[in-house]
Amino acid sequence: IQRIGILTSGGDCPGLNAVIRAVVKCANRRGWDVIGIPYSTDGFMQVADGQYEPENLLLTDHGYDIPGILQGLDVLQFLSGTILGSLSKSRFDGPDQVSKILAGYEKLNLDALIAIGGDGSLDIIYDLAQRGGWNLIGIPKTIDNDVPFTEKSIGFNTAVQTVNSALYDLTFTAASHDRVMVVEVMGRDAGHLALHGGIAGGADVILIPELVPDLSPLVVTQICQHIADLRQRGRKFALVVVAEGVHGEDGKPKHLIGESLATAIADRSRTLCQTGDTAYCDMDRVETRAMVLGHIQRSGIPTASDRLLASAFGRKAVDLIAEGRYNRLVVWEAGRVRSKDLSDVIATVRECHLRGTCPSPVETDSTMVKVARS
Ligand code: F6P
Repeated sequence: IQRIGILTSGGDCPGLNAVIRAVVKCANRRGWDVIGIPYSTDGFMQVADGQYEPENLLLTDHGYDIPGILQGLDVLQFLSGTILGSLSKSRFDGPDQVSKILAGYEKLNLDALIAIGGDGSLDIIYDLAQRGGWNLIGIPKTIDNDVPFTEKSIGFNTAVQTVNSALYDLTFTAASHDRVMVVEVMGRDAGHLALHGGIAGGADVILIPELVPDLSPLVVTQICQHIADLRQRGRKFALVVVAEGVHGEDGKPKHLIGESLATAIADRSRTLCQTGDTAYCDMDRVETRAMVLGHIQRSGIPTASDRLLASAFGRKAVDLIAEGRYNRLVVWEAGRVRSKDLSDVIATVRECHLRGTCPSPVETDSTMVKVARS
């Protein structure tokens, strides 16, 4: 091995720079060069177009010469985002672009490629690797924590911390005004982030798509009953977490689902009050506010836990290359870093996309589901 490549693909998340750091350190120690591919597959096209020469893309322990960021990699590991840049979706529309990507890869003379990506982007890069005969190693990253075969992905822990901090901060304003704060949390189709962030942040209600696919009238009534119960016991405020993957009443994806839920809770509370049932006597005073946490969940200083995972994953990826074990995904399983056949992972990802969300927290995270239910 003389030269390997590394790229970050899909939505960014905290901890990507820490993976890059780990890979560069471990690879350099073995005497290998590391080429940082800018903007995922776009970078290969730019190389093919002659916009970059390999030597311009060399990553060293001293960092990466991006304007404004001339820090050593040891400092960069504390920064969110990715020094390499990323693409939300790897863009290539037709055979011409695929050929260009493959040509760019060839031009770089890489012995292997490490792709840090989520389920969607790993799927795309896996496909390219099959066509181009690349020696590929995948590293899972996503705040959604929905890459199959790994219990943890880079970025998830920091995002959980962000949701947790937001709930902590919202508690005081909610309590001061006796309000119900509805907090919409990212996660795409999956509820892992809402579940973990919600439990850690002390949410009173957590809605995840795997258990509550849509905001049916029954669901809204149950939430109001829980709020009424809290109020009867003297707790006048409540925190409600809803994963963005929960659908509207009609079962269809709903933009600003948190806003819809906040309105539905306020409306239903008044209706319940009008029933004359004493359990709901003060529900006409329930005020709700909605907040979309949004892309703040993709940022924040990577937690120590994410940086540890990044270090372990980066090291493992380099070890796999040294052993000549390609087409693997680095994973975390039962307290250890391991690797899985990338073909199996991608087959499962494709199956999941056909079936809907998976891995479901109901299957993989039953402990936390149990905690939330209690
Ligand atoms: O997959 C990560 C994620 O942050 C999801 O939680 C969210 O739905 C999506 O990406 C947002 O994507 P974009 O940055 O393209 O708006």
